[in-house]
Amino acid sequence: MDVQKNIKEIESQVDEAVKDVESSKSLYDIKMKFLGKSGAISSLMKNMKDVPPEERPTLGKLLNSLREWTEQKFSALEQKLREKELKKKIAAERVDVTMPAKAFPSGSHHPNTLIKDELVSIFSGMGFEVFEGPEIENDYYNFTALNTPADHPARDTQDTFYLSDSLLLRTQTSAGQIRVMENKKPPIKILSPGKVYRSDDDATHSPMFSQMEGLVVDKGITLCDLKGMLDEFARKIFGEDVKTRLRPSYFPFTEPSVEVDVSCFECGGKGCRLCKGTGWIEVLGAGMVNRRVLEGCGIDPDVYTGFAFGMGIERIAMLKYGINNMKLLFEGDVRFLRQFK
Ligand code: DAH
Repeated sequence: MDVQKNIKEIESQVDEAVKDVESSKSLYDIKMKFLGKSGAISSLMKNMKDVPPEERPTLGKLLNSLREWTEQKFSALEQKLREKELKKKIAAERVDVTMPAKAFPSGSHHPNTLIKDELVSIFSGMGFEVFEGPEIENDYYNFTALNTPADHPARDTQDTFYLSDSLLLRTQTSAGQIRVMENKKPPIKILSPGKVYRSDDDATHSPMFSQMEGLVVDKGITLCDLKGMLDEFARKIFGEDVKTRLRPSYFPFTEPSVEVDVSCFECGGKGCRLCKGTGWIEVLGAGMVNRRVLEGCGIDPDVYTGFAFGMGIERIAMLKYGINNMKLLFEGDVRFLRQFK
């Protein structure tokens, strides 16, 4: 009885094969070896046609029960292995919800940004709108239209980076004044923050820095309006007790021009290191918009008047936060920046 012998042999082969099986993947391979299309059991079944007909029912039964036995064995084992594998997977992917979370470092605003935002908020509270002009400017907007023609000595005070005969990196946000006045009829009340460039580099100067320009044009605007607005600005940014003072100065695009000082917010005006003993700190330039500038923009200076002002944002930041070297504002050292949370 060859077939019976074969059955016994297959049984012991199955037992032997599954003894050390570790994974459902290798169990599958073994299963195929016995139950697959050309597996050992399937081959035996195919051979039934060679068995004499009278033996077929008995042998058929035996073969069927061998197949059932093998299938059951495999499926029981498979279930066990799958359970084991699932447990392992769950253990490996376990999340400890009690573990403290990783600290997520949050950044801080750059002091320039803090001052710019504060200025924009103060001035928009007074009705100013923000206008941002281009950093690459025409010579015309940066100088000529601001009453600073090609041979004007004031050009020398701004070491300009020229890109071509007519294009330059703007040296002052004042250029934005012209762009606004050319496009808008009074009343005008704008604020223009942005980067400006000058070939200048030391502890208090940087080739790139930031300014904030302001411009108001309407009927009946006087120097008193400028003074009143500056008082409000100084109190809001430096403190309630701070006063302002105007000193005569010169800018080609304003007449009269003034330099604006604030009373020292450190010593209250008595004189200290910050104000160099004078009790006053210079913070910005300003003046009444020159008639020629208004005219050049098609605004009738006999009907309208205006004032303008411009300040350095880094300068305000250095004063307000007690920063003694401008370079700190450009180096991006996180130990410095972290202090402005
Ligand atoms: N643009 C001047 C500068 O960069 C600052 C300034 C002075 C702006 C007087 C003004 C102004 O609008 O009226 O030095």
